[in-house]
Amino acid sequence: MDNTNFGVGIIGTGSYVPDKILTNKDLEKIVDTSDEWITSRTGIKERRILDKDKSTSYMAEKAAKKAIESSGLNREDIDMIIVTTVTPDMAFPSTACIVQEKLGLKNAAAFDLEAACTGFIYGLSVGYSFIKSGLYENILIISADSLSKITDWEDRNTCVLFGDGAGAAVLSKVKDGRGLLSIDIGADGGGGELLTQPAGGSLKPASIDTVKNKLHYIKMEGNSVFKFAVKIMVDSSRKVMRKVGMNIDDINYLIPHQANMRIIESASKRLKIDSDKVCLNLDKYGNMSSSSIPVALDEAVRDGKIKENDNVLLVGFGGGLTWGATLIKW
Ligand code: UT7
Repeated sequence: MDNTNFGVGIIGTGSYVPDKILTNKDLEKIVDTSDEWITSRTGIKERRILDKDKSTSYMAEKAAKKAIESSGLNREDIDMIIVTTVTPDMAFPSTACIVQEKLGLKNAAAFDLEAACTGFIYGLSVGYSFIKSGLYENILIISADSLSKITDWEDRNTCVLFGDGAGAAVLSKVKDGRGLLSIDIGADGGGGELLTQPAGGSLKPASIDTVKNKLHYIKMEGNSVFKFAVKIMVDSSRKVMRKVGMNIDDINYLIPHQANMRIIESASKRLKIDSDKVCLNLDKYGNMSSSSIPVALDEAVRDGKIKENDNVLLVGFGGGLTWGATLIKW
């Protein structure tokens, strides 16, 4: 392959979710909620929770190891690591640097990227650009989040929604016409306050007051995010299909961000995609932020669902506000 006539695609995937399961019934004992409410309003039945003494890099390492193994590359071939997360182990060093050390990826540049739940799509687009430009060859994208660590377990509006997990993919050169065929990423900072963790940064450094006022937890205006999500998933999906002259009938699988079953159903209906083409794991894991899409992707690949030449559409949205979609010829 010369330096212009090639595609950029995913050559390996991996994922990890913690063993500990928290069911809707368990949540009934913690806050004023019910299995019936959570299931009918969100589609979530249970979620995974990371042990208290473990951190995001623990899950990131496990998912990354599987992705590298399935890519067939050696560890020294990985020349860049991008970790997408809103729950890094700490502000710095980056979680990507921590994972680099844990996995011994000595030849890799490493940095974190924050685009909330859209992180995986943003990560893919950055990785794509580095490979297309010829600067780097084999890039490990890891999306890992332990939202349980920033969840207010007394707030029923949010605590029923989230779960922990990590997904990873190795991006590399593939045959021309394969891999990521089109990408759309976008943002609307004007909607930033709809979904935020207010304290812990330079605006409101951690203090007794920020802790007392519960400002280190996720705050969300669910209804507004819901409406934004449906619209942007449809718009962004259409955009990536249009860019390559495809329509919804050309899509073999849609892998949406897994935030709420009703969001996915509304978007799928507007897109007119058959429900059996939509890959779901929301019922088992809840919303795992940027990990939701790569975990669902890895499961679909390992189950043998996604096959060579399939057209796979990934679409996500999240805090920022951010959104993104990519159409991949597998
Ligand atoms: O990753 C991206 C970020 N997140 C999202 O995409 C989330 C998007 N939003 C959503 O998924 C939905 O808006 C929620 C699931 C968060 C909420 O569903 P909703 O249908 O929009 O409910 P609501 O906020 O309008 O609340 C309806 C009622 C309220 O009671 P009143 O005021 O009508 O008496 C809430 O207090 O449901 C109540 N409620 C609950 N009841 C039982 C809210 N949470 C719960 C709960 N259990 N866990």
